Amino acid sequence: MIPPHLDSLDSSGPQLNDPDPVGNHITVLREAAVRALRPTVGGNYVDGTFGGGGHAQLLLEQDPPIGLVIAIDADLDAGPRAEFLADLPGNSCRLRLFHRNFRDLESVVEEASVPEVDGVLLDLGLSSFQLDQGVRGFSYRHDAPLDMRFDQTGGITAADLVNTADAEDLARILWQFGEEKQSRRIASAIVREREKSPIRTTSELASLVQRTSGGGQRSRIHPATRTFQALRIAVNAELDALADVLRAATAVLVPGGRLVVISFHSLEDRIVKRFIEAESRICVCPPDQPICTCDTIPRLGRVGKPIRPSGSELALNPRSRSAIMRVAERLDRNGNVVHRGNSE
Ligand SMILES: C[S@@+](CC[C@H](N)C(=O)[O-])C[C@H]1O[C@@H](n2cnc3c(N)ncnc32)[C@H](O)[C@@H]1O
Repeated sequence: MIPPHLDSLDSSGPQLNDPDPVGNHITVLREAAVRALRPTVGGNYVDGTFGGGGHAQLLLEQDPPIGLVIAIDADLDAGPRAEFLADLPGNSCRLRLFHRNFRDLESVVEEASVPEVDGVLLDLGLSSFQLDQGVRGFSYRHDAPLDMRFDQTGGITAADLVNTADAEDLARILWQFGEEKQSRRIASAIVREREKSPIRTTSELASLVQRTSGGGQRSRIHPATRTFQALRIAVNAELDALADVLRAATAVLVPGGRLVVISFHSLEDRIVKRFIEAESRICVCPPDQPICTCDTIPRLGRVGKPIRPSGSELALNPRSRSAIMRVAERLDRNGNVVHRGNSE
């Protein structure tokens, strides 16, 4: 059986086949995520992964209206889509896009001159804009330079990584971030190949992995799928950025504000789940200690169970099939739930 996080690998994130002028886009769990944020009149929300702007647009369409959407995306290509959205009637002063890594969320919120926010949404991974834009090098389906950076303006590319990292590091990346069983074999093959000539394109890497791993004829996924996932996660330091943004989001949320995170594979979801569990704990004393002495005050409360796309969403957008959404609520300084008008 294909692990769910890899089953959808070459296709995570929102899609591009809806005739919406914001960018032909099917946003995953669009209504459910915005509902989970529990938008309030005049409230300010962070969309930490603006992408095609599907979630941001729905937030801006709320009636009665919310206040500001502070949008973040590391990808410069999000700019024109945000401009389009900001130009729609009534939106002009209510959407601000920051070209930043979402791990800088606290400083972005400060720059937006908003002391606290009412909700933070993260729809992780890459968008179909990025995946389907062959030139970005995210997919083995398109021959392109091996780039894979969300932020085109800086940082190392996947080509830098495969042509410079030692075999040990490459194997660790493939194993940790791709759960690739043949990690050592592929890493050694990469090192041998680059001694002859550097590996510069998606096709060169994909065919090298295919040759090394024996073709994977019987698998439903391409043999290079795990390698591509692993390199993308490493290039963008995705798991570290996620851990940072969860801490930052908790720091900027107003009591009663919501944190809503949509993950697309188990590596991400595990981090989100454990973070919410840890921040919800009321005692961190050793289990064999008879009396609690830690005075821990939880900062988050879990809201409901994880949510997955409905059958009708899956039928409309098969690429949403591995999405899982977790919701948590910021507690007050005494660790108590804050009751806001809408109890959903
Ligand atoms: C799945 S898409 C979001 C789609 C969006 N919710 C929509 O409705 O169109 C994820 C987006 O997050 C961005 N992204 C991923 N990791 C990021 C990070 N660490 N910092 C900033 N942006 C990031 C990607 O560039 C991509 O555009």
